[in-house]
Amino acid sequence: MAKIIAVTNQKGGVGKTTTAVNLSALLSELGQKTLLVDLDPQGNASSGLGITAGESTIYEVLMGAIPFSACIQATRWPRLSVAASDIRLAGAELELVDVERREYRLKNAIAAVRDSYDMILIDCPPSLSLLTLNALSAADSVLIPIQCEYYALEGVTSLMNTIGRVRRSLNTSLVVEGVLLTMLDGRTNLGLQVVDQVKRHFKKQVFSVTIPRSVRLSEAPSHSEPIHIYDPKSTGAVAYRQLALEILSRNDRKPLEEEPPEEKVTRKGEKATKNGGKKKKKASKKSDKA
Ligand SMILES: Nc1ncnc2c1ncn2[C@@H]1O[C@H](COP(=O)(O)OP(=O)(O)OP(=O)(O)O)[C@@H](O)[C@H]1O
Ligand SMILES: [Mg+2]
Repeated sequence: MAKIIAVTNQKGGVGKTTTAVNLSALLSELGQKTLLVDLDPQGNASSGLGITAGESTIYEVLMGAIPFSACIQATRWPRLSVAASDIRLAGAELELVDVERREYRLKNAIAAVRDSYDMILIDCPPSLSLLTLNALSAADSVLIPIQCEYYALEGVTSLMNTIGRVRRSLNTSLVVEGVLLTMLDGRTNLGLQVVDQVKRHFKKQVFSVTIPRSVRLSEAPSHSEPIHIYDPKSTGAVAYRQLALEILSRNDRKPLEEEPPEEKVTRKGEKATKNGGKKKKKASKKSDKA
């Protein structure tokens, strides 16, 4: 059953969508069957991967018009799918206002597809709105991106209060997956001071990897590609891969191993590897020495 992580911070422009898109893409590259849910009417997570929302979106799902499976679209990359949104999603807030248990619409709908994935990431809008409450009710954990800038911690207290309230009422098992420092400019003292301040505040909850400020990360969406495809060697690609590995390790999951060397059958009918088992011999030599 998929682990559901909501990427959230009500502050705008802190790197939620960049994180949701690239983390989803790298988790899928590391072998996890991943679904990215675009829960923001801005639709940036969808468009960043070249997905056009069309007629079947999260909006129709929340309104109860279609099942969740009907809004899922495959991407060009294996193991990565998107549940898309566009500006119509903004209407859901108003239209659901009198509906009972409206905070559980996403949770109830997503249950039908949860078994089909290993990881589900939800990109939240920059508000503590009904949409965000739906994400927090449906999620197992929250990933909080914090931008390395002067007012970094502004609003984080109200976010933590909201998470606390959700835990007491809507979702008792909700935990913090981690706090992610984003857009670090390591050349400035300010950036490093913010890292220090956030680490003192959140201690072990802060991911060990920090996302650097990188022009390549801001360019990738206009090419409709995640960073590890757009520029695999860029600092952003390396950092988001490290984040994906950190999350897999925190959740006791293993990354996809590199394909083992192809086995071929020798004339005698014995199995042999392409390299004639040289690797094995080397390993045993090493262990002999030890
Ligand atoms: N590490 C980074 N380096 C450089 N630019 C970045 C980085 N992360 C994000 N950006 C850019 O900063 C802007 C805001 O990022 P993003 O859209 O991910 O934030 P957000 O929190 O999702 O915003 P919103 O609150 O509007 O949804 C975008 O133009 C994005 O390309
Ligand atoms: Mg966003």
